[in-house]
Amino acid sequence: MKAVMCNQWGPYDQLVIEDIDSPIARPDEVIIDIKAVGLNFFDTLIVEKKYQTQPELPFSPGGEIAGTISAVGDHVIAFAPGDRVMAHVGYNGAREQLAVQAQKVTPIPQNISFEIAAALTVTYGTSLHALRDRAKIKPGETLAILGASGGVGQSAIEIGKVLGAKVIACASSDEKLVSCKQLGADELVNYSKTDLKSELKRLTDGKGVDVIYDPVGGDLSEAALRAIAWNGRFLVIGFASGTIPKMPLNLTLLKGCQIVGVFWGKHIEKEPEKHQTNLSTLVHLCANGSILPRVYKLKPLIQAVDGLDLIAKRQVQGKVVLTV
Ligand SMILES: NC(=O)c1ccc[n+]([C@@H]2O[C@H](COP(=O)([O-])OP(=O)(O)OC[C@H]3O[C@@H](n4cnc5c(N)ncnc54)[C@H](OP(=O)(O)O)[C@@H]3O)[C@@H](O)[C@H]2O)c1
Repeated sequence: MKAVMCNQWGPYDQLVIEDIDSPIARPDEVIIDIKAVGLNFFDTLIVEKKYQTQPELPFSPGGEIAGTISAVGDHVIAFAPGDRVMAHVGYNGAREQLAVQAQKVTPIPQNISFEIAAALTVTYGTSLHALRDRAKIKPGETLAILGASGGVGQSAIEIGKVLGAKVIACASSDEKLVSCKQLGADELVNYSKTDLKSELKRLTDGKGVDVIYDPVGGDLSEAALRAIAWNGRFLVIGFASGTIPKMPLNLTLLKGCQIVGVFWGKHIEKEPEKHQTNLSTLVHLCANGSILPRVYKLKPLIQAVDGLDLIAKRQVQGKVVLTV
């Protein structure tokens, strides 16, 4: 079978397409014939050994997949060949087939396509966990999202609206903000043109923002924290800018606010039952039309490098999905 392989640590343009052996299911595993693979920013890091998860070489990038089950191990009773499913696998998704532990697999209804299902788990899972479990956001609270047109950013807009927040989408261009508006953002801030802190203060009548969702890092983080409300929650999601900011702790004292770390990958390991509940919630919300991952570019498996290039060059609004 075909696979996108990382045989040595290095930039994603060193990935190669290879024929490798098809997997065989262990007793607790199912074989998924992969139809779609969701790419994420972390795929650009994992192949360079710059991500928290460092797989053994060789491996394939691609952390989230959707497809059809083609075989089940002897102990698996919850699934049968032909079932439509999705799974978060962390890596090894960019290939034609994968053996996955049955407990990591979630069924998908007929009205959710494989491309959409493959774009649902990581970004929407992160945002639901961040906003509901970590920030405990309440209806009517204000939510500012940095990098709002990116993968996790777009999902935070939709999940924020589902949870009843007033969403302020922040991004680096007016073009990117158009897609945020279409997703339901109430207010828009172009942080390459305006001062982020003053604009967030202005949009909240001087009160400040209740919850800040930050997947970007760099200089934007402190500017946003300076515009947080009393009792606010600053969610540390990621550092797409490449710079991990150092925050003056006096700000947390002065504003009575919390800086809250969000590590979805660890959460699914440590709190598997909560994760499964969150996944079922996401499938339900997607099936009834409350959320819809926006697939910015569909690319065939063999063009995985082009897909990662779009992400690395900051050109994506939503998700890049590989079709298999
Ligand atoms: N904590 C968790 O559990 C968790 C889960 C998933 C993802 N993440 C992290 O969240 C971050 C974003 O992931 P994503 O998949 O949403 O990425 P993405 O789709 O590429 O979006 C990232 C956004 O960051 C902004 N950005 C600023 N500087 C950038 C740069 N130098 N390169 C690329 N983007 C830059 C861009 O928005 P503007 O141009 O508008 O600024 C872009 O839309 C990553 O660091 C990822 O590892 C964390």
